[in-house]
Amino acid sequence: MGSAGTIELPADKPEIALITAMDRSRVIGAAGKLPWRLSDDLRRFKRLTMGHTILVGRKTFESMGALPGRRLVVLSRRGSQPQSSQPQRGAQTPSGQTPNRQARPQSSAAEPGVLWTGSLAAALDACRKEEKVFCGGGAEIYSLCLPLARWLHVTRVEAEVEGDTWFPEVDCDQWRLVSKDLVPADERNEYASRYCVYERISGRPRVSSGDELRQPGHGRETDGDRV
Ligand SMILES: NC(=O)c1ccc[n+]([C@@H]2O[C@H](COP(=O)([O-])OP(=O)(O)OC[C@H]3O[C@@H](n4cnc5c(N)ncnc54)[C@H](OP(=O)(O)O)[C@@H]3O)[C@@H](O)[C@H]2O)c1
Repeated sequence: MGSAGTIELPADKPEIALITAMDRSRVIGAAGKLPWRLSDDLRRFKRLTMGHTILVGRKTFESMGALPGRRLVVLSRRGSQPQSSQPQRGAQTPSGQTPNRQARPQSSAAEPGVLWTGSLAAALDACRKEEKVFCGGGAEIYSLCLPLARWLHVTRVEAEVEGDTWFPEVDCDQWRLVSKDLVPADERNEYASRYCVYERISGRPRVSSGDELRQPGHGRETDGDRV
């Protein structure tokens, strides 16, 4: 750990990619769940993360359970699965997909494909041989991983939804948009969305005005958000 809450990332640590879906005010969750139904986003989440490790917070794990084909590294300050911590019935992945129900624990016994760790440093140490790991949230874990991330995979949901959990503020001067795909609303996708991939840069970013990562508070923007 470095000073002021930062972690010095050794050269042999994996590349970190945050993957999230947020509304126009950076809402990501409501009452422990996702505040939308976006089938195409779940497919994107699955395609991008398949075969990789995903870092998640204990609360997000409880909302989604284990995921087939992916290793979850779950952060809890206890460093182990709390007795009371079980994935909810009807749990969803961050992007709404069906979790691996058969792998869900019915007791506190270790769950296949799930590793519990007590700190981000321990979580990254458990991934030190991997090229790339994903951070799948929620807000607390995004805040931990954002300073270390090279990539942001952001589904920008074209809506203002009610919620209680927000993606952390982003210094947009540090990121540039490298790709963007538009997905219309339809019977499978409650809202239109844009799949945006940002890469950390040191120079001036080049993102069109519609792609800023905005502050919570009904669409207000500040100079610090602009890219
Ligand atoms: N839209 C999206 O893409 C997306 C993605 C993921 C989640 N979500 C939503 O986000 C919400 C959950 O987010 P959240 O921020 O409330 O919870 P969270 O980040 O999923 O989990 C928080 C927990 O992580 C553990 N933790 C936090 N910092 C830690 C540290 N430094 N070291 C070790 N463990 C640490 C703590 O567990 P203990 O209390 O056990 O110590 C803490 O209570 C839900 O609504 C979920 O649906 C949305």
